[in-house]
Amino acid sequence: MKTILSPTIHAPSGTPGSSLPKLARSLVLGLGCFCCAVAQAGGPDVQLTIHAEQSGSPINPAMWGVFFEDINLGADGGLYAELVKNRSFEFPEPLMGWSKVASGTDGGRIEILDASPFNSENPHYLRISTDGVVPFGVSNEGFRGMGIRPDETYDFSVAIRVTSGSPELVARLIGADGKLLGSGRLTKLNADWKKCSTRIRTVAGDPKAVLQVLVVGQGVVDLDMVSLFPQHTWKNRPGGLRADLVQMLADLKPGFVRFPGGCIVEGRYLTNRYEWKKTIGLPEERKLIINRWNNEFKHRPTPDYYQSFGLGFYEFFQMCEDIGSEPLPILNCGMACQFNSSELVPLDQLDPYIQDALDLIEFANGPASTAWGGRRAALGHPAPFRLKLLGVGNEQWGPQYLERYARFAQALKEKYPEIQLISSAGPSPADDRFRSAWSKLRELNADIVDEHCYDAPAWFLNNASRYDNYDRKGPKVFMGEYAAQSVATGSPNNRNTLECALAEAAYMTGLERNADVVRMASYAPLFAHSDGWQWTPDLIWCDNTRVYGTPSYYVQMLFSRNRGDVVLRTDVATAPGSPRFFSTASVDAMTGEIILKAVNPSANPVSGAIDISGWSATAPRGRIVVMAGSGPQDENSFASPYRITPLGSTLQGVTPHFHHTFPPYSMSVLRIGTAKR
Ligand code: AHR
Repeated sequence: MKTILSPTIHAPSGTPGSSLPKLARSLVLGLGCFCCAVAQAGGPDVQLTIHAEQSGSPINPAMWGVFFEDINLGADGGLYAELVKNRSFEFPEPLMGWSKVASGTDGGRIEILDASPFNSENPHYLRISTDGVVPFGVSNEGFRGMGIRPDETYDFSVAIRVTSGSPELVARLIGADGKLLGSGRLTKLNADWKKCSTRIRTVAGDPKAVLQVLVVGQGVVDLDMVSLFPQHTWKNRPGGLRADLVQMLADLKPGFVRFPGGCIVEGRYLTNRYEWKKTIGLPEERKLIINRWNNEFKHRPTPDYYQSFGLGFYEFFQMCEDIGSEPLPILNCGMACQFNSSELVPLDQLDPYIQDALDLIEFANGPASTAWGGRRAALGHPAPFRLKLLGVGNEQWGPQYLERYARFAQALKEKYPEIQLISSAGPSPADDRFRSAWSKLRELNADIVDEHCYDAPAWFLNNASRYDNYDRKGPKVFMGEYAAQSVATGSPNNRNTLECALAEAAYMTGLERNADVVRMASYAPLFAHSDGWQWTPDLIWCDNTRVYGTPSYYVQMLFSRNRGDVVLRTDVATAPGSPRFFSTASVDAMTGEIILKAVNPSANPVSGAIDISGWSATAPRGRIVVMAGSGPQDENSFASPYRITPLGSTLQGVTPHFHHTFPPYSMSVLRIGTAKR
């Protein structure tokens, strides 16, 4: 009788396994047993010989990571839990997201001003003038509505200056049906700019609520940085991150977090490149700029997409620390996006960019006595963030990149030889740009080269052995962006299907098998908001209150949480006519277990004969986690978030020579223990 393993060992925490209906579980698990009997009658499809006596390359503990970019409302409207859109009235259309709250008599006026601002970095503010006959004010629509939960407390805050009269301010959360969900009041308002706040306790929730800010009583009031956060954020930090989304990342146990992108690092133009120094400090001091994904895709315009940088570099480092991941910041190298303007900083003007990189290392690692280490300490983190990796440029190519990379590398290595630098091989995994980048980066003795690939599932299946013959002596590989595309790269019709996930899993077996060359890998992009995305497929989908992991998410989880420490050589012999089959084996140094990962992307079961060479006995029972579906087009959704999810059970009848059948459309992780002496 199979049992579900504790999900904290292999399977996603707090979600699938135990919460799935029993029938669904036994269907998934039982399928393998039934097929096993049928297939064995004709002999195994595949013979796997795991050489337990020959330990191979160590696997980088930070091998499987995540790639975060503010795309698809990834930061504002996503991970950053701020619910007010355009809180500082800095959008080029300063009232975008805001509307006047109409009442029976139009007893007031709103205007946008910038004289004597609350903060000069974000100078615009809203002036409300009212005759006080009825409450008068504005309403904010949030990011496709505001996700308000029942029986929760929200922090409403705002910078206020009263220039006439002695009015009060009321903040009201209103559901899509017009019902009041909760409210708060600010009284005794100042004549000079002052940040004021109040708590709002909700009596009901709504994923599409709005916030009304109303002036009560006659007067003139200036408002800026109008903000609403749930008190329940990740680690309950005020003004923090959405707890459910960070939890999804934490559950992956990512070895690293790459941030902040992606093309967002580059900007369409250099003026809107990502500048880390402008993303730390008080929220009102972080100058808002356009998000490059705002108007990138004509078929998916997002005119209200800007970067408030409320989620800035300090928060990124802090999140990495929280979830036990290596921080991997990527910095602009003096080049704007080569798919857009291709603007270049002349080589003789590159120093400020290089200085930004040097300062970032000091910010992350320097003692509090240094200028930038002191900034970090002043922000609340005296201990260093232990930065070890730094990316120079995002997805760059051509001689212009390579000469800029060389300048960065020279300066960074001179001062910080211990920092491993990530360089770029361009947007394609096999074109001329890629080849010439690799050849020059080899010459430059680069540490780690970032390869990108968005392609059809077939590409991933056909390239699972891509690294088997890679140069062992040159730079290491970071497979920094990859995802199987069900239709075509950039197509809005791409889906996160099981077929795509299994193709990625097959490819990842090749990454793990070649862990001596491939140091790190991350799927891209990470997050997408179902009402505000520009790019699909994505690893995790959310709306204002819900989130689910795609089949690709669970593939990442299975690899990351069953990483193993050392690769074991595995010989695979496939019987003629058998379905395609992909596998890799490693050993868990702490438990001594062999971890076999196997991917069967076909419609047929694959019967396997598994030999463990070098072991005369095993523990009779092992553990197994299987992620399988009924067809290649299976997907998860808000309605069925765990349709495709890993399920754990006990693996019976394990010996040094045993049989196992791998179900159709599946990825399996088998853990085989040593015999007890
Ligand atoms: O992941 C989406 C985009 O794809 C990234 O921003 C960019 O690096 C790549 O072209």
